Amino acid sequence: MKETIEKLLAEVEAFIPKSAEELENFRVDLLANKGKVKALFADFKNVPNEQRKEVGQLINTLKNKAQEKVDEFKAKLTSSKNQETTIDLTRTATPLRIGSRHPISIVRNEIIEIFSKIGFTVSEGPEIEDDWHNFSALNFPPEHPARDMQDTFFVESESGEMALRTHTSSVQVRIMENQKPPIRTLSPGRVYRNEAISARAHCFFHQVEGLYIDENVSFADLKQTLLYFAKEMFGEKTEIRLRPSYFPFTEPSAEMDVSCSVCSGEGCNVCKYTGFLEIMGCGMVDPNVLENCGIDSKKYTGFAFGMGVERIAMLKYKVNDLRLYSEGDVRFLEQFKSAF
Ligand code: PHE
Repeated sequence: MKETIEKLLAEVEAFIPKSAEELENFRVDLLANKGKVKALFADFKNVPNEQRKEVGQLINTLKNKAQEKVDEFKAKLTSSKNQETTIDLTRTATPLRIGSRHPISIVRNEIIEIFSKIGFTVSEGPEIEDDWHNFSALNFPPEHPARDMQDTFFVESESGEMALRTHTSSVQVRIMENQKPPIRTLSPGRVYRNEAISARAHCFFHQVEGLYIDENVSFADLKQTLLYFAKEMFGEKTEIRLRPSYFPFTEPSAEMDVSCSVCSGEGCNVCKYTGFLEIMGCGMVDPNVLENCGIDSKKYTGFAFGMGVERIAMLKYKVNDLRLYSEGDVRFLEQFKSAF
């Protein structure tokens, strides 16, 4: 028996497992319930008295050595296994594609922020409008070309003919009908016009229109408000220019240009060598419009303005094709990631 134990002891000392599986077999063979160590303890009763002490110690040594081996290699084998599978927490993570804000949203939000600093609130209205809110209340004569099928998408409905709004001035009519001056509001939103799609025109685009009505509002207020906007939007050095124009709902009406941000007014192909870029229409609200909406035009005056968000975004980001905004191409959209 002594020899058997010593042979086993030598085997245990020399044992170096190559895998966790090999180690487990070793453990089962020696230490499990039906293992060799248990069998030796069972045979112990046959050992003559004078050898008992020595053999007992030998079996215990064997048991302890085997257990030490198992413990030692168990730790080594599992920790090397861990190195293959666990994550290296010190490594930089693979960047997640988190999407980006659409340039139209970025610019729209910027316009809203600039005007909200001087007390303008935001109002919204329906995209499918009736003739009154989109045209009639705004002083469009019945034969006005903007009502023509060429420009407007008409929609059939049970409540008569409706149209996709051609501008967000329709929202301002709704505000004037429902609120008492002073009114200071912005109406951002999508508008529709029946135009052939090209790099410079689309059948839908986005506007931000503004309206300010109170006692004694003058053209000087309009000019100063728009100068403030232009400087905030395009930079402190920006200059504005107002050119006489015509809109049915404003009198007098003007178109506003800003000095070209690309060439700083020197002349380049973006501003077609004029040094200026047209960015919006504006004017004093026609008294007829105020009366149409139930506002006393003897007591109140106001100004209104409207701009295309796509156009401002084109100038700001030097985008040369309007179609890019609605094609959803991530290669285009991803470029606006840092502009949150
Ligand atoms: N509603 C006009 C348009 O869509 C813009 C505008 C608004 C002009 C307010 C003057 C005053 O073109």
